[in-house]
Amino acid sequence: MEKRLIESDKFSSLIPEIDKKAAKEKGPGRPVYWEMIFWWTRKPLISARAFTAASLLPEDYPLDKFKRMIRLSENLPHKYQPLVNDEFKNFTILDPFAGFGSIPLEAKRLNVGKVIASELLPTAYVFLKAVLEYPKYGRKLIEDVKKYGQELLKSLEDDVKELYGEYSGFVGTWEVKCPHCGNYTPLVSQWWLLALKGSEDEEEGESEEEVKSGNFKRLVFMKPEVSGMRLRIEVIDLNKELNKKTISAKKTKDKIIVNGKEYRVPEGNVNAKKSYAKCLFCNTTFPGKGDKWYVREAIKDWNEKYEKYLNGEISLEELQNAKARPTLLVKFKGEGKDLEFSEVEDEDREIFWRSFEKLRDIDINHIPIEKVAEYASRRTTVAWGMNKFYKLFNARQLIMFSKIITKLNELREKIEGDEEYKEAIITYLTIAFLNHIRHNCMLSSVHPNRTFIAHALTFRGFAFTWNWVEISPLADIIGSLTRSLDHIIEGLEYLIQTNSNSQVEILNFDVNELTLSNKVDVIVTDPPYADDVPYPEVSDFYYVWLKRIIPFPYSTQWEEFVPKDIGVDEERSKTFGDGVGSYEYFRNRLAQAFNKLTEILKDDGLLITFYNHTSPDAWISLLYAGWYVSKFRITATHAITTEDETRITARNTTISLDKSIVIVWRKKAEGAKHIQEVRKEAISKVSDWVSTMLTKQKLKLSIDTYIEVLGKVLSVFTQYEKILGLRGEGINAVEDLVTNYVFPTTAQAIIEGLSKGIGVRISDPYTVYYVLVKLLLPPPKKGVRKLDNNSLVFLNISSGSLDFKDLQSKGVISVADSKDTIALVEPEQDQDAITALERLPEVKMVLQGKYDFSNPIQVFHYLEYVSLKYSDKLKDEIEKLRERTRFVDEALAIAKVFAKVLPDNDIEKEPSKRLSGEKVGIERWLNG
Ligand SMILES: C[S@@+](CC[C@H](N)C(=O)[O-])C[C@H]1O[C@@H](n2cnc3c(N)ncnc32)[C@H](O)[C@@H]1O
Ligand SMILES: [Zn+2]
Repeated sequence: MEKRLIESDKFSSLIPEIDKKAAKEKGPGRPVYWEMIFWWTRKPLISARAFTAASLLPEDYPLDKFKRMIRLSENLPHKYQPLVNDEFKNFTILDPFAGFGSIPLEAKRLNVGKVIASELLPTAYVFLKAVLEYPKYGRKLIEDVKKYGQELLKSLEDDVKELYGEYSGFVGTWEVKCPHCGNYTPLVSQWWLLALKGSEDEEEGESEEEVKSGNFKRLVFMKPEVSGMRLRIEVIDLNKELNKKTISAKKTKDKIIVNGKEYRVPEGNVNAKKSYAKCLFCNTTFPGKGDKWYVREAIKDWNEKYEKYLNGEISLEELQNAKARPTLLVKFKGEGKDLEFSEVEDEDREIFWRSFEKLRDIDINHIPIEKVAEYASRRTTVAWGMNKFYKLFNARQLIMFSKIITKLNELREKIEGDEEYKEAIITYLTIAFLNHIRHNCMLSSVHPNRTFIAHALTFRGFAFTWNWVEISPLADIIGSLTRSLDHIIEGLEYLIQTNSNSQVEILNFDVNELTLSNKVDVIVTDPPYADDVPYPEVSDFYYVWLKRIIPFPYSTQWEEFVPKDIGVDEERSKTFGDGVGSYEYFRNRLAQAFNKLTEILKDDGLLITFYNHTSPDAWISLLYAGWYVSKFRITATHAITTEDETRITARNTTISLDKSIVIVWRKKAEGAKHIQEVRKEAISKVSDWVSTMLTKQKLKLSIDTYIEVLGKVLSVFTQYEKILGLRGEGINAVEDLVTNYVFPTTAQAIIEGLSKGIGVRISDPYTVYYVLVKLLLPPPKKGVRKLDNNSLVFLNISSGSLDFKDLQSKGVISVADSKDTIALVEPEQDQDAITALERLPEVKMVLQGKYDFSNPIQVFHYLEYVSLKYSDKLKDEIEKLRERTRFVDEALAIAKVFAKVLPDNDIEKEPSKRLSGEKVGIERWLNG
């Protein structure tokens, strides 16, 4: 294949626009079909679309035509079909790590001749069918899903009435028998039920301590009242109490002030991280810590007894006498902001416990007795004794789910149509069921300021929670079965519009065992990222239910697939041995996969990989797998936003953790060259490119620029099959290459490109670091730029990484609040420039008559100060400084670079302009 659009510079110029739309998709513009069910790290559709199309189109394809094709000028391009005819009908495309299928879905929408999506895990395989294949049945499918969905809901009515009465559900938690007074005390992490802000656009505070003032749509909390041996949980509903729809209030974590009147919200009485829990009856704090914490042991006791009870070994009474047990706190009706809470009554408790009796009557095959992965304690619940899946549910939940399973299996027989059509309908109904389960289990929790219910997979796994929410499948509330079916219908309305003439094939394969009858033209894929998500273990949460409706021959996915999964979790080796789950294991599997892909890809084909980690380690793994082992060469790289909805990114603190790197690979690295030669070649080629782009005014510097330049550097390095002169073999050689050559060359190429373009010289490594941080990261609204440790590796022109301590002692960085975050020593952005500069230690130092500069940046800062405060004395001051320090020229070089390319809103822009003569006219003097 000749050069493709994705490999061209002009395509790079579109990245910021694609990026903007991609970010919207991860926020408020989410594709509706994503609400059908949750899957981890789904890629935005616009990026899948843009990169797939650009990998198939020739380099000279007009950019405006391309933009129209992918609908880039629409606010949310993914809502529209791409404008294509038969452009791609002769191509075959493969995604061997298809996940929830963003990439193949867009290939299908682009009408690519043949689209192959393959996945290791049965769960994802079923979801892929729902996303990519079954929508082919069109409207009829929607009508039938509605029809049979209604029938399913109807079949549950009697049981719902019996088990939930007229209520939508309950908020509950765990109660523990106090070792001191003998009462069972509920343990509640926080007593809030609803704290809904008046308008959506008001920002939500990050920290719980924060004071929030404004209008609240709802303010409701619980209050425990002890009298003697009895405990009541009262509901304090301020809307009711004040008879107001919206309440103007000031709210902190533990109080609300309305019109000067103060309402105290009780503090939670449990905090597992601190092994802290207190009895509500006698105020005693429970003993023990960590694994030996009394509360943990008590909950383990419940889980052991729960098992014995189900096995018929103990009575219900004995179960109820466990040291801990689930308990109901309040019940509710209605939905959303109209939720109405009330106190739990004895009858509610009776029904709750009676359901445990009934549990013994249900078909044991409907109870997921499968083992939770026993080692992944960080992501799962085994540390609390919830080591089998049914233990994540109470009896009432298990009874309802059993009914649903029975009904779904009955419905399958009733559906009119061929086997595949029956399977399609059942698949969507099952997905609705799974979505309901993630909201209706003992791992859900109260989320007072947004959705009320936080589902079980909010984090990267499923974790133990207090304050769980239990809901009736038929309630009109987020996460109910009724609502989940609505999401399916909405999702299907979306998906049937994506139908095209593509031939779609969905496979359930380990990439390393994948064989295809014909080679493919392009592979576009998004491999797993080391320890990001342990897919087999966490998606078992769905699988153990799924398999009861859509059968698979494996007990759990983790037992079957962990050794095949390309991921890191050191704990895995405890069960599987052989270093399974180690970083090395992951890397070797990834290398094997890339090697496999060389067999599947046509010789002139393209491999496009999305990769989410910007850590140096990730680059080493990728280059090892792709280049060193599989002999692919890199022809371009791009940076794109794919931030996950569940990831809380500390914005501003890092070198763009929220970006994915897209790498374009081609087959056949060839020849050999010495590393020093390659390095020279790369610096000269790439710095020329940087300076040309700069003079053409085309280069807007950002972290994306760094990735783009890195791609150029890599395309020089990886064109050779062998690079001589590296230290060691295998992974060691690649590590040497990446940390000592690839990153330093990239930083140097940018700096030399800038220097060439502007006509100055910068060589001090500290200056390089400072200049690159200033240019690649945008100025923060307040304060100074902050970054993570990786920047020390990335932004360094000499080999290895910059020494943290040196940078600190030379006053270039300071350690911010946590050890992982470093702050640049620069004038703060929110200050008046003179004041901000005056606060820098080096300026203070000179004002005290000392001239102990340790690097050119400090001289630069001081000169900035002079240029603003005593501009008429600037020239003299520069002359004087020359006698005291050798850093003056480099300081002035920084000014020239900043005057040209620093963003206008940076506080150092103006003084840099003055210093470089644009304002005061020392330009002449500088050049002369
Ligand atoms: C990052 S996710 C892909 C997400 C997808 N692009 C999307 O938008 O939904 C990576 C996927 O690779 C799968 N995977 C892990 N090891 C695999 C293997 N050996 N063969 C095939 N798939 C594998 C995981 O189960 C996971 O779904
Ligand atoms: Zn007590």
